[in-house]
Amino acid sequence: MTRLVLSSRNKGKLLELQRMLATIAPHIELVSVADFPEIGDVEETGSTFEENALLKAETIAMKTGLAAIADDSGLCIDALNGAPGVLSARWSGEHGNDRANLEKVLKEMEEVQPDKRQGKFVSVVALALPDGRTEICRGEIHGDIRYSPVGDGGFGYDPIFQPDGYHVTMAELSADEKDRISHRGRAMRAITPVIAELLSE
Ligand code: IMP
Repeated sequence: MTRLVLSSRNKGKLLELQRMLATIAPHIELVSVADFPEIGDVEETGSTFEENALLKAETIAMKTGLAAIADDSGLCIDALNGAPGVLSARWSGEHGNDRANLEKVLKEMEEVQPDKRQGKFVSVVALALPDGRTEICRGEIHGDIRYSPVGDGGFGYDPIFQPDGYHVTMAELSADEKDRISHRGRAMRAITPVIAELLSE
C-alpha cells in the first residue's frame, strides 16, 4: 500500500476521494492530515488558488515524507472583479462564517442587474510527492448569483449560486448531484488518474 495524505480534516471530502481512488488505484491508502497531530494548519498566504493548494500539499509532503494532496476553492464573481476569490472563506472578516460571508456578497451585488450576475466556483487540487514533483488540476462551475438565499443543502455560498442550465440553487441539489457537477468533483475526478499513475505500486 502507498499512503497518500489529504490536507483536509473534512470526513466527507476524505470519503469522496477514497471512493474515487478505490476503483482505479486500490493500492493507495488515503489518510487525513488529522492523523498527524504534529502538523498544524498551513496558512493560506497565496494570492491564487494554485499557490494555496500547492503550499498546503508541499508543506504536508515535506513534513510527513509521504505524498500529499490539497485543495483550495472559492467563488469568483465577475461584477466584483473576481472577488471574493481566495478570500471566500473569510470575506466578512470572520473565517468560516458562511452566513456573514454570503450576506456581504449579497449586499455588494444589490444593485447589479440580472444579466451582469455571472460567477464561478473554482477548485484547485494539488498533488505533491516527497521527491518534489507536483501536479495541479482545476475544476470550475459557472452560474449566476441570486438576489437572496434559497435551499439548505451544501455549505458556503451554495444558497445564492444558481448553476448554468439549472433553475435551482446549488443548495437545492442532492449531495450526489452537486458532486457530479461541482468544481470540486471535477477537479477531484481529474486528479484521480494522475495519482494512480504517479503513485504506482
Ligand atoms: P477553502 O477551505 O479555503 O477552500 O475555502 C473555500 C471557501 O469557498 C468556503 O469557505 C466557501 O465559502 C467557499 N466554497 C468553496 N466551495 C464551495 C462550495 O462547493 N459551495 C459553497 N461555497 C464554497
